[in-house]
Order: sequence, then C-alpha cells, then structure tokens
Amino acid sequence: MSESLTIVGIAGSLRAQSYNRQLLAAAGELLPNDVRFILADISNVPLYNEDLESALPEAVVTLKQTVESADGVIFATPEYNGSIPGVLKNVIDWLTRPRGQSSLNGKPAGIIGGTTGMFGAVNAQMHLRHILPLLNMYVIPQPLVLISQIQNKLDAAGHLTDETSQKFLQQHLDRLVSVARRMKNEQ
Ligand SMILES: Cc1cc2nc3c(=O)[nH]c(=O)nc-3n(C[C@H](O)[C@H](O)[C@H](O)COP(=O)(O)O)c2cc1C
Repeated sequence: MSESLTIVGIAGSLRAQSYNRQLLAAAGELLPNDVRFILADISNVPLYNEDLESALPEAVVTLKQTVESADGVIFATPEYNGSIPGVLKNVIDWLTRPRGQSSLNGKPAGIIGGTTGMFGAVNAQMHLRHILPLLNMYVIPQPLVLISQIQNKLDAAGHLTDETSQKFLQQHLDRLVSVARRMKNEQ
C-alpha cells in the first residue's frame, strides 16, 4: 500500500470571510480519506525583507516547515487588479528563501480560485501558472477551476453548491493527488 499523503492549502486572502479560503476548505473535504489536509495560516507572515533572512521570522519558519512536510500544495487565489494579491506573492517569495532553500522546489501544485465577478480569477491564475513553474513546481494543467460569482456558489457552511464547479474541483484534486502519489513513490 502506498504511504499516506499530506497536501497543504494556501489561500491568497487575509479576509476573515474569504471566499477563496472557504473554497480551499471545501477542497480539503473532497480529498480522499487517506490524504491529510492542512490549511496554512499566513496571517502573521511579515512583508518580505531580505534583511530578515538572517533570523527568519517565526511565522515564516512555521510556514516553511508545513510546506516542506507536505507532498503537494494547493493555492486558492483571488484576483486583485488583474493579478494575484500581494499577500500571496509575499508568501511565495518567503517560501523560496533563503536562496537554495526553497520550500516549494519540486512539489506538485494545484491552482484554484474564484472572484465575485464574471471571470473567476482567470488572470490571477494565469499569472500563478507563470510563476510556479519558474520555482520548479509541477502545476496541474487541467481542468482549470475558475469560479465566477463565487459568492453565489458557497453556502453558509462554506460548501460548494455549484455542481459544475464541484466537478472541475474534484477532477483537479484527483490529478493533484495522483501526481503527488506518483512523485512520492518515486523518491
Ligand atoms: C484590491 C482589489 C482588487 C480587485 N480586483 C479584481 C479583479 O481584477 N478582478 C476580479 O474579478 N475581482 C477583483 N476584485 C474582487 C475580488 O475578486 C473579491 O473581492 C474576492 O471576493 C476576493 O477574494 P476573497 O473573498 O477570497 O478575499 C478585487 C478586490 C480587491 C479588494
């Protein structure tokens, strides 16, 4: 039997009621039972400053350890002004540091996201699809999980109610788990 997997989720929003964090939590519930899901806490990660690298902030150390112990990462990104939010880029920047000690290197990555508008974070997701392979991450190619008008597709308990979105999300997660399992078994 293959070893159990751990997937860590990173949401690109600090908002208490973030739809993308709710989406990520919903994704965690759709993972197979033998997959451990951790929703990363990015709320205390400071703004990146190279001067802080000599004594990494505690929140960064914890986040790096969480990601390093995981077999895959799933990012849920909102779209801010046509790209990923600064908080998400900030976390990615920290995770790649110090130089040569990237916590993201070589891991598979799922990308999902939603916006309250009509286009489901497509620009932000495409920008993330540009960034992550440059960090040597293996991005799940298809299906895209672009959730438009996300406020109408999550219920009060944070469950995804839209069948089409749920189908694409499930397929994306299945592929992430499959790639992560294969990569883990090859190690
Ligand atoms: C600064 C800012 C910029 C935004 N820019 C976009 C945008 O370019 N495209 C879009 O579809 N939605 C945009 N939105 C709306 C967000 O998609 C919406 O607020 C979403 O709910 C944020 O995600 P969250 O609920 O996970 O925090 C923007 C929101 C903010 C606060």
